[in-house]
Amino acid sequence: MGNSTGLYHPVTIGNLSISGNLFLAPLAGFTDKGFRHICIEEGADLTYSEMVSAEAVARGNLKTQALMSRAESEDLFAIQLFMPEASVAERAVEGVMRFEPTIIDLNCGCPVPKVVKTGAGSALHKTPEKIGEIISVLVRESGVPVTVKIRLGWDANSQNYLEVADIACDAGASLITMHARTRAQGYSGSADWEHLARLKEHVDVPVFGSGDLMSATDAKRMLETTGIDGLMFARGAIGNPFIFSQTKEFLTTGITPPEITRDQRYRRLFDQLDSTIRDKGEVAACREMRKQVCAYTKGLPGAAALRADIVHAQTRADYHAILTLDQ
Ligand SMILES: Cc1cc2nc3c(=O)[nH]c(=O)nc-3n(C[C@H](O)[C@H](O)[C@H](O)COP(=O)(O)O)c2cc1C
Repeated sequence: MGNSTGLYHPVTIGNLSISGNLFLAPLAGFTDKGFRHICIEEGADLTYSEMVSAEAVARGNLKTQALMSRAESEDLFAIQLFMPEASVAERAVEGVMRFEPTIIDLNCGCPVPKVVKTGAGSALHKTPEKIGEIISVLVRESGVPVTVKIRLGWDANSQNYLEVADIACDAGASLITMHARTRAQGYSGSADWEHLARLKEHVDVPVFGSGDLMSATDAKRMLETTGIDGLMFARGAIGNPFIFSQTKEFLTTGITPPEITRDQRYRRLFDQLDSTIRDKGEVAACREMRKQVCAYTKGLPGAAALRADIVHAQTRADYHAILTLDQ
């Protein structure tokens, strides 16, 4: 047994008990059904949909509906919504609940101008009372646990996460995940994990951390240094779903897991491609998986040439011709 025993453990979210504390973060453009399925196979304990516009759900938008259905292996499944105010939640909840999510999550972190200018995503940090109003409606109307994903604040001068967390908890949120960056930081600079420890001390609900989790070692360090309940892998899982199994092993045994071989990477890549083909069809799957190939092949000899070829891959057979598996 290593000294890290105890860092991997079950979590209670409202009336739900989740067997472990390693979650897949919502990642727009990446955490589709195919990818979520692979992450669960690799040991993710809970997966979140890409962020979904509650306004679009309320209007019955079909593309949005595709984002909300469960992957084949998802017994548990969280749908993340973004919206600027509670009236949108009132109109959207029924449409969301048709997909029977186990959890609904409110996005208070998206920094993208198109979202922020409507008052949604990280702009909600500027109007914290609206976060409370939205969560109240979601809790009342959905009947499932509601979680919230926040940032430190809008910018360095307005890090209001403790206030936001209080409001969210008073409204009935069952878990808070914090991406330890401000909106102004976007995804650059380093995440400041010290704030995670402060948040954990401040609230009674479970706290999860996000930001700069690229390896099992990072995961262990975040859990150990902050005392939080669990974490969400984001960019660290793209092209590297092994981060779940590796982290679980590392946290429970203390033994550094062996490197993932080229063949293991390729096999998972094809598992994901096949799962995505089942969901979206071959043309869309082959187009959308290209960006993930870069991540799956990162650091491998000849990776640059592979990437140059893969941008032309249109079929599963093209992928096979470029990414040759050893027998
Ligand atoms: C391409 C991309 C898409 C993202 N999409 C979402 C999203 O839909 N909802 C959300 O709450 N966060 C989203 N995030 C933020 C991540 O969930 C995570 O909090 C952030 O990347 C920090 O973690 P990391 O530094 O370990 O990647 C996204 C991040 C990236 C890079």
